[in-house]
Amino acid sequence: MRQPFVAGNWKLNGSKQLIKNLLEAILDGSKTIKNAEIAVFSPFLYIQQVAELLEGSSIAYGSQNVSEYNAGAYTGEVSAAMLKEFSCKYAIVGHSERRAIYGESDQQVAQKFIMAQHLGIRPILCVGELLEERESGNTEKVVARQLDAVISAAGINAIEAAVIAYEPVWAIGTGKTATPQQAQEVHAFIRERLSRSNDAVATNVRILYGGSVKPNNATELFAQTDIDGGLIGGASLDAADFLAICQAAN
Ligand code: PGA
Repeated sequence: MRQPFVAGNWKLNGSKQLIKNLLEAILDGSKTIKNAEIAVFSPFLYIQQVAELLEGSSIAYGSQNVSEYNAGAYTGEVSAAMLKEFSCKYAIVGHSERRAIYGESDQQVAQKFIMAQHLGIRPILCVGELLEERESGNTEKVVARQLDAVISAAGINAIEAAVIAYEPVWAIGTGKTATPQQAQEVHAFIRERLSRSNDAVATNVRILYGGSVKPNNATELFAQTDIDGGLIGGASLDAADFLAICQAAN
């Protein structure tokens, strides 16, 4: 059985005070959530604070990115070993904002995946198509390319301990959610693609949906056979909304 998973990606938001308030509310409201795993992703600088606030709780935390390098002259980067030192359980890799704004290539994303995995940090690999790619009928081609880059660099077995997040780029932060059917189709495609290399991995890996998930659409999305939870942006900054989404996964 795949345990439902809800991950809150705070992106470039937060302050010491905001994070304290948000996490206190999430800790308090999540006491009744026993069946879904919850994780939060703060900017790097606040990971220590997040770790302290979450100590002793079952809520996990991680980073929004990780360097593809170990150490050295890479100004501004944060390595997997550093994240490990702060006990990050997960690291998001290949978020569409990293790919689009910072030009991360499929190969770079695959290296980041490998770096995290080598240190025992579970990567959350984001894949997803642009609007024009969907409209030109290339959704599966794009998702397969992004997925295959990681499978060929890291090996299919590395996928099992990781998490995949399907995030159609046109649905991120736009208020336009993929319909549950549209999302399910791509999730099923991802599983089918993985099963070509390894059936067990395809069956066991958790695949999250991301892109304007809100309390009012989470239940229907999470009810789809191949959707195991969500990667939540905007709604994860509001404790009540985030908790309602966690309840939907529970
Ligand atoms: P959103 O972001 O929920 O604000 O659309 C999702 C994401 O980028 O992970």
